[in-house]
Amino acid sequence: MCGIVGYVGKRPVLPVLLEGLRRLEYRGYDSAGVVFFDKGRLRVLKRKGRVYDLEEDIYRNSTLEPKAPGLGHTRWATHGEPNEINAHPHFDCKTTLAIVHNGIIENFYELKKELIIKGHKFISDTDTEVIAHLIEEYVKEGLNLFQAFLTALRKLKGAFAVAMITTMDPEKIYVARFQSPVVVGLGEGENFLASDIPALLPFTKKVVFLEDGEVAILSQEEVKYFDFHGRELKKTPQIITWDLASAEKGGFSHFMLKEIYEQPSALQQTLLGRLDLEKGKIDFSREGLTQEFFSGIKRIFLVACGTSYHACLVGKYLLERVIDIPIEVDLASEFRYRNPRLDNGSLFIALSQSGETADTLASLRLAKEKGARTLAICNVLGSTITRESHIVLYTQAGPEISVASTKAFTTQVLMFILLSLYLQEIYQREEPKELIKMLPRLPGLLNKVIEKLHPKIKECAKNWYGASNFLYLGRNILYPIALEGALKLKEISYIHAEGYAAGEMKHGPIALIDENFPTVILSAKELGIVHEKTLSNAEEIRARRGPIILFTTEGERKFEDKVNYIFYIPETSYAFLPILYVVPLQLLAFEIAYLKGCDIDKPRNLAKSVTVE
Ligand code: AGP
Repeated sequence: MCGIVGYVGKRPVLPVLLEGLRRLEYRGYDSAGVVFFDKGRLRVLKRKGRVYDLEEDIYRNSTLEPKAPGLGHTRWATHGEPNEINAHPHFDCKTTLAIVHNGIIENFYELKKELIIKGHKFISDTDTEVIAHLIEEYVKEGLNLFQAFLTALRKLKGAFAVAMITTMDPEKIYVARFQSPVVVGLGEGENFLASDIPALLPFTKKVVFLEDGEVAILSQEEVKYFDFHGRELKKTPQIITWDLASAEKGGFSHFMLKEIYEQPSALQQTLLGRLDLEKGKIDFSREGLTQEFFSGIKRIFLVACGTSYHACLVGKYLLERVIDIPIEVDLASEFRYRNPRLDNGSLFIALSQSGETADTLASLRLAKEKGARTLAICNVLGSTITRESHIVLYTQAGPEISVASTKAFTTQVLMFILLSLYLQEIYQREEPKELIKMLPRLPGLLNKVIEKLHPKIKECAKNWYGASNFLYLGRNILYPIALEGALKLKEISYIHAEGYAAGEMKHGPIALIDENFPTVILSAKELGIVHEKTLSNAEEIRARRGPIILFTTEGERKFEDKVNYIFYIPETSYAFLPILYVVPLQLLAFEIAYLKGCDIDKPRNLAKSVTVE
């Protein structure tokens, strides 16, 4: 996820752009850049680092005579290392037009090859740069600027919010939206654009939201709207009533709640460019992953910490259905100090949202020393773990601000689903191919679960936020979700919560049960015999007057009057269960912590990334 801003009007352009970028830094912050007119030419300043690093560069450069229109960009790298060359804006060959972009161009590789054959010279490793050269190519072929812009947009596949300024039309900003947000800000004798409302609030509260497939052309005096075929549109402005703090959270009370609700679109980003539905295959070629990478692998190690460790536990269930080789899961803090047997027949998979977790990094280095092949599943491009792994698969979840991990977890689980489907080609084990066809429906399915269950979860939380302990139970692929649900509750509400394999009840935990000790039970019909056994665990708890909050499959009515709360999850594929069952637990933890007045986004004693042992 990146942040884009634009301004056309009489104000000094750079302060407006920088103010906007500062307010969008939560969307991405590994590099930043601006482009504006200076003595009639386009001038770009960009660098790796935060917006204030860019600001220092700008104010050191006293020869500038910056004039609007101008564009700004703060980057969350998806293609190409975070560095000055890959920072936006990007130019065409003749630096007559500049582009900033938020999203992922899925077909950039093919477009780039075609443009190079036509003589275009590329400077960066980004997908974005292709857009500038594509527009340039259509102008060269005789289209006028607007038609060249529209034709290029129609050629792109993926998600994009694209803004352009050009010496060919120096009084205007062109902007388009497809699956990445764009908000136009309307002023008096000036107009603005941004990825998100916070960047506009210091200047105007009158906004127009572009929809997918829409373009806006901003000049000082007016904004015109069109579809991607050039047909003019009428758009109705809205007045924003949020203050800045809630605007940065997209109107949500906390970043955690915003990120819980972002999960359907985060899953969509994870899928972008990786589903070849025609061939029924998973495509990791963009990451340079080939089947050869797995040849001769005799053992797989999944290693991580915290929530990422729970994703590894889910990954074990998913991979074991496809692969006939041993799969070990380890806490990184344990792995690094035991004497793991690894060699060149071992594959070490490190999971980390931040890519900086000390124990996970140390385990990765140990695995490499012992000759293992290494693959990282990570959310932060260019982080240490990604730089030290042979192969990296990015979850593309966008920045996760809240310390409690939510969208990072669900996108990690989705990466394991993709990896298990990819490996079926190599190991030829039965993993229904129709699962690939179901994947595009997963984000919508999750959205429905969130919208349907959240109000009732809010009610349920009112009954239990005073509890001192919780037990979370699950079996099979829902056992790691019980662990994750318990972790979410304890880390943001400070209530003691234990996740347990439901089959372990008789081996100790049942001694804890009484009327003040609620148990959250996860049991899906899709788990077959294991589902029945979990329901009998529920009976054992009920017999000891233990309160029960049950999450189970729609239609499983027999427990309706035996539990204190029952939440129904739509019947789905086995592989989707962890994602559909964990999100309600994230919401339960959030609503309990909210009622307790906890500092949800920054819980006491916790850091977003544990970079020390
Ligand atoms: C999860 O909510 C916590 N923030 C924590 O357990 C986290 O998952 C763990 O520290 C691992 O972090 P990483 O994914 O960045 O390596």
